[in-house]
Amino acid sequence: MAQDKKIEGFTHERIETNNFLMIVLIVLVISVGGLVEIVPLFFQKSTTTAVEGLKPYTALQVAGRDVYVREGCYNCHSQMIRPFQAETLRYGHYSLAGEFVYDRPFQWGSKRTGPDLHRVGGRYSDEWHRTHLINPRDVVPESNMPAYPWLDKAQADHASVPAKMKVLRTLGAPYSDEEIAQASDEVKGKTELDAVIAYLQVLGTAVK
Ligand code: HEC
Repeated sequence: MAQDKKIEGFTHERIETNNFLMIVLIVLVISVGGLVEIVPLFFQKSTTTAVEGLKPYTALQVAGRDVYVREGCYNCHSQMIRPFQAETLRYGHYSLAGEFVYDRPFQWGSKRTGPDLHRVGGRYSDEWHRTHLINPRDVVPESNMPAYPWLDKAQADHASVPAKMKVLRTLGAPYSDEEIAQASDEVKGKTELDAVIAYLQVLGTAVK
């Protein structure tokens, strides 16, 4: 009778009839497979070295990037142009790993309620961004992007920028002591709107 049959040795049947063993082995296979794919990326030049011309964010851009993260812009905007014609015709050259080496954390995302922003730098004037962020409908009548009028009234947080740049330096951004010493003054007196526009205007500009 089938149910009396003893399973002997380490057969496939033994794995398939034992949930615990099955789970352990699945986890093992996925872990090894994942590591084999992911670990080499940490040592590949094309993924770890900055593309030519890439500069770390300036003090004002660092402050602006934090506003971008705080306001959750990434919930509607990706920063990752995929290598397909439909994307490159619309947004420009596809994104390269080496363009993101100073991005901590990445703002890649996959949710696109609005357009991808990776190469938005230089596409519009500062004035356009100013109007657009205060009320998108003033420049794009059919826009459903939220308005961010408070950014124009809030002073950018200048005091914390040097500390942030020091942390970024320990992670590989090549800031000089001088740049860090001047960081606070560079941001002082600027609004959060100035800062976020400075950040938007540099996005994707290292690759032409
Ligand atoms: C609820 C979704 C949503 C959020 C959140 C959002 N946006 Fe948008 N954004 C859109 C949509 C939709 C468009 C396209 C219409 C337009 O241009 O206003 C857009 C367009 C843009 C554009 C113009 C892009 C281009 O290539 O024309 C910029 C720049 C932009 N958003 C920046 C931001 C920033 C900065 C933030 C955060 C402060 C933000 N967005 C938050 C939905 C969003």
